[in-house]
Amino acid sequence: METFKRLKQFYWPYRNYFFLSVFSLLFVSGITVMYPVVLQFTIDEVILNQEYRWVPYLALGFVIIMTIKGTATFFHQYLGDLFGVTAVYKLREELYKKLQYLPFRYYDNAKTGDLMSRLTADVEGFRFFLSFGFAQVINFILLVSFSLGVMFYYSVPLAFVTLGMLPFLAIAVYRFDKRVHPAFRGIRKSMGRLNTKVQENVSGINTIKSLSREDFEIGKFVNNNKDYRDNYLQTSDIWAKYFPLMEMIGNLCVVFLLSYGGFLVIDNQLNPGELVAFFSLVWYIIWPIMNLGFVINTFSQSKASGERLLEVLDEPEDIQDIEDPISINHLEGHVKFDKITHKYASEEEHALKDVSFDAPKGTTIGLLGATGSGKTTITQLISRFYEPIEGSILIDGRNIRDYSIKSLRKNIGVVLQETFLFSSTIRDNIAYGDADVEFEKVVEAAKRAQAHEFIIELPEGYDTVLGERGMGLSGGQKQRIAIARAILSDPSVLILDDATSAVDMETEFKIQKAFQEVMKGRTTFIIAHRISSLKHADEILVLENGEVAQRGTHNELIERDGMYQRVYKIQYQDKEKIKQRQTG
Ligand SMILES: Nc1ncnc2c1ncn2[C@@H]1O[C@H](COP(=O)(O)OP(=O)(O)O)[C@@H](O)[C@H]1O
Ligand SMILES: [Mg+2]
Repeated sequence: METFKRLKQFYWPYRNYFFLSVFSLLFVSGITVMYPVVLQFTIDEVILNQEYRWVPYLALGFVIIMTIKGTATFFHQYLGDLFGVTAVYKLREELYKKLQYLPFRYYDNAKTGDLMSRLTADVEGFRFFLSFGFAQVINFILLVSFSLGVMFYYSVPLAFVTLGMLPFLAIAVYRFDKRVHPAFRGIRKSMGRLNTKVQENVSGINTIKSLSREDFEIGKFVNNNKDYRDNYLQTSDIWAKYFPLMEMIGNLCVVFLLSYGGFLVIDNQLNPGELVAFFSLVWYIIWPIMNLGFVINTFSQSKASGERLLEVLDEPEDIQDIEDPISINHLEGHVKFDKITHKYASEEEHALKDVSFDAPKGTTIGLLGATGSGKTTITQLISRFYEPIEGSILIDGRNIRDYSIKSLRKNIGVVLQETFLFSSTIRDNIAYGDADVEFEKVVEAAKRAQAHEFIIELPEGYDTVLGERGMGLSGGQKQRIAIARAILSDPSVLILDDATSAVDMETEFKIQKAFQEVMKGRTTFIIAHRISSLKHADEILVLENGEVAQRGTHNELIERDGMYQRVYKIQYQDKEKIKQRQTG
């Protein structure tokens, strides 16, 4: 119940729909129990007394109660759905919002497939109980108590006999539920694994194809798929056994009714019509009890779903604005690291150790180092995607924590190695983050990013819709769109993380030109493997295992023994060889 209490804020505002739905249900259940009563009346009063003039009135009365029942059923169902759907509408929105603000730390461990299924299947599971399960519980209570009421009214002893059968049913339901519940959980889990598998497969299709691992992937999927099938079949097996069993118990009940009820009729203690009514009424008790397993199931499933949803909602947004943060439209961009040490929560080793530097407005810092040396970590700390465990980061002389996260990140532009483009038009992709920016400005940015030329050659120009991975564009083209995006957002701090490593030399040359354009007047951090990208930097930091191993300008560093010189020599010698080959 705790789960439902904690999610109350989502459904409680719409309780009126629910109450109205239950009110309609009152009529539905009430009229359902009327059928046997009408039957009893027809047999005992009309047929046995040969009062056939009653028949037309009975028929008319029947039509009327049917109409009422039909209308009530409509309102009951519609309002029930309205209740559930409106409630989860808010819930889904809240979850999605939450996803936007969850820290990177959360996404480091979260599985996309799992999150997807929380936002879809679990929300749906929760809704199902709100729309349907709740009402079923009430329906159960109403139908059973109405039926028993009528039964006791007709014949107390026969009603007791019927009641005597109920424990058997209850036991069967209980045993069934104990078996089917874990089986259902198994289905859900293997469905989750199946989803994760497909999602990972689609995301990683490039890797799979380039390594020719299609067969391996198919094999893995076959296992997941089989697992799901087996789980499902196991549940089906339990279900399939359950229904005949319940029906048998129900029919045994009917046999008892017939024997004892028949005896009562012969003994004139019961009218024949009343016995007939009992036959229907007993099923109105058995059906809901049989259904109880199912209802309990939807309840525990939706409880489990609710828990999974709460897990997302409760996740702390550990990187939050301080109270009264500074909201500033434009930062100058003077970035300073003061003895920064950082460790990722999931790792043993420190990712950065005692890193300090000063980057006044408009300067360029180059970062060089092996994979895993901490380059990206530096840039992520500037954007405050993670908090360093020691030291402070200052922008324009203030700790970045003093700024609102929004104003901080608005002033930082990032171009990554892999550009993510949304499945939308090129224009939208460039203007991302500012929906009503003028078209001229988009074109202007694209021109400065050297992207205009290839964009206008596309069939629909700026209105060309891109696929999820920037379909149809080369790495260099995607990169230039990302640069245009950065130019348009006009950040004071610019981060270029390995932005040219995925493109060939010639494209790199074009992109370099675009970079020079975008870097003007901005404090820039360039992460690159090519000396040519770094050599104009005002200061270059060479990182080794999270520590600054060397620092200085290009001219200083090539004179000193160390990694920079080694890298320079390798790349420089290559160039020399190429030159020699071209001239010689
Ligand atoms: N999100 C993360 N969670 C845990 N460890 C991470 C994360 N990102 C990076 N690391 C670790 O921190 C170290 C530095 O990584 P990173 O800054 O990405 O290096 P680089 O960009 O130089 O390749 C590595 O040991 C890496 O495994
Ligand atoms: Mg990196």
